[in-house]
Amino acid sequence: MSDTPNGSVDGNHLREVRRRRTFAIISHPDAGKTTLTEKLLLYGGAIQLAGSVRARKNQRKATSDWMALEQQRGISITSTVLQFEFAGHMLNLLDTPGHQDFSEDTYRTLTAADSAVMLIDNAKGVEPQTRKLFTVCRQRGIPIFTFVNKLDRPGLEPLELLTEIEDVLGIRTVPVNWPIGDGNDFRGVYDRKNRRILLFERTDHGSRPAPVEATNLDDPRFERLLTPARYAKLREEIELLDGAGEELDPEKVARGEVTPVFFGSAATNFGVEPFLEEFIGMAPGPAARQSLQGEVSPNEAEFRGFVFKIQANMDPNHRDRIAFMRIVSGRFERDMTVQNPRLGKSVRLSRPQKLFAQDRILMEEGYPGDIVGLTNPGAFAIGDTLYTGSAVRFPALPRFAPEFFAVLRNLKIDRYKQFQKGIEQLGEEGVVQVFYDVNAARREPILAAVGRLQFEVVQFRLQSEYGVETVMEPTSFRHVRWLDGESDAIKTIRWYQGSRRVDDNEGLASGLFDSDWALNYMQEQHPKVQFLEAPPGR
Ligand code: G4P
Repeated sequence: MSDTPNGSVDGNHLREVRRRRTFAIISHPDAGKTTLTEKLLLYGGAIQLAGSVRARKNQRKATSDWMALEQQRGISITSTVLQFEFAGHMLNLLDTPGHQDFSEDTYRTLTAADSAVMLIDNAKGVEPQTRKLFTVCRQRGIPIFTFVNKLDRPGLEPLELLTEIEDVLGIRTVPVNWPIGDGNDFRGVYDRKNRRILLFERTDHGSRPAPVEATNLDDPRFERLLTPARYAKLREEIELLDGAGEELDPEKVARGEVTPVFFGSAATNFGVEPFLEEFIGMAPGPAARQSLQGEVSPNEAEFRGFVFKIQANMDPNHRDRIAFMRIVSGRFERDMTVQNPRLGKSVRLSRPQKLFAQDRILMEEGYPGDIVGLTNPGAFAIGDTLYTGSAVRFPALPRFAPEFFAVLRNLKIDRYKQFQKGIEQLGEEGVVQVFYDVNAARREPILAAVGRLQFEVVQFRLQSEYGVETVMEPTSFRHVRWLDGESDAIKTIRWYQGSRRVDDNEGLASGLFDSDWALNYMQEQHPKVQFLEAPPGR
């Protein structure tokens, strides 16, 4: 038993918390995220699931719902949560959008992850979206593990890759293992900690775990496997790493200063198991989370969780909205009643789900680190805290400053209701931010986005999910600010050209500005009003 400010939890709870690892994979499209996910599931014994990850990716083409846009653009926007076990650990894998235009969404998903795995294509090195997503991880300050993939194909020299990661991303690297050969000659990895050679055997199309043989560098049989030149090079590289390289310090990993690097090939399964084995040892378990009332530890008995993502119409057969909640403390049970302080009322969590693409499994219980899919329509917003016992509130999830603003027009008057509903729901999901000109005769939404692709997604989804056709007219606005202060002071603001008074989708007073100059000018003219970068109180 462990005493905590919110009662005690039993040994089972402590064990469940200790064995959980909640993480996300970040990568540039085509680096092999789907394949690696599949293989993690394969080693986790969820073989049926493993097959369906790819099926799901391919299926998107066929079912042609809004995910078709992802297919066309080679991007991944949907978020899926997968849970699987490996060596006594329970792993929760969160899918993150791969495109930089969705960095805000990625950030929100990462708030629910305790660590990230950065996947890099051996031949391509650090690609633009790896860089963008890495930056988002950095802002979150979570440990980052690196998996260099596709070693079964010729690629960059491993040392060159490490230098590139260090130079481009500004994080120090410590290889946990080292590749033996590459391309067709990729035989396995050298495990630096245990000074072992792990030799892998190919299986047909990597559909079964790769058989592994362990040996050491001095084994003459191993030496004979490689050409003398390759063998000598491997020894040289290992000596170089041991002599000049940095030791793997778990604290530096935890602070995100150093990334442990693994080499492998998801397609052939080489190196996937050694990665998982080390990962579960090094990756942090469910973290405590700061609330406005103090830190909430996963070992507190009272239930606390927060909503980090909402998605409408994930499954065209269900047409519902799912709120994804991360459990921070306590034990989650189906049908439990929790408080939602934003609404000032209690909500019963009936029909909670574990989600796997189109499959939904009813979730009976959950522990800190787990993600629950909640289906209560309209009861949740991104950033909501849900709790039992004494009141608690987690700080709001930060918003990224939008850089693109456009007016959205509905082309068919008879679809106005659907248009309104679509905009409201996509706004709730955080696909874009939505504002309304308070002085305009017609209530037309002005959309604000971090990247232009978000606009395309809105138009595409409005058409495919709500049957609404729209046109988008870019505006010259560049900044949004929320207005805080006496209502009289806000009312008397004179809105010069280049600025416009709007409300956000929750009705909060805001302003749009077309230049730094316009914004600064308004701020100088109205010292009694605060021009905030986020809604007041967030
Ligand atoms: P993504 O989710 O990051 O976009 O990548 P995905 O796993 O779909 O992989 C992109 C391509 O790279 C796929 O080939 C996949 O088979 C291949 N790939 C992934 N891991 C490895 C690896 O370790 N070695 C090699 N050689 N290839 C790998 P594709 O031709 O696009 O699709 P498919 O023919 O496999 O269906």
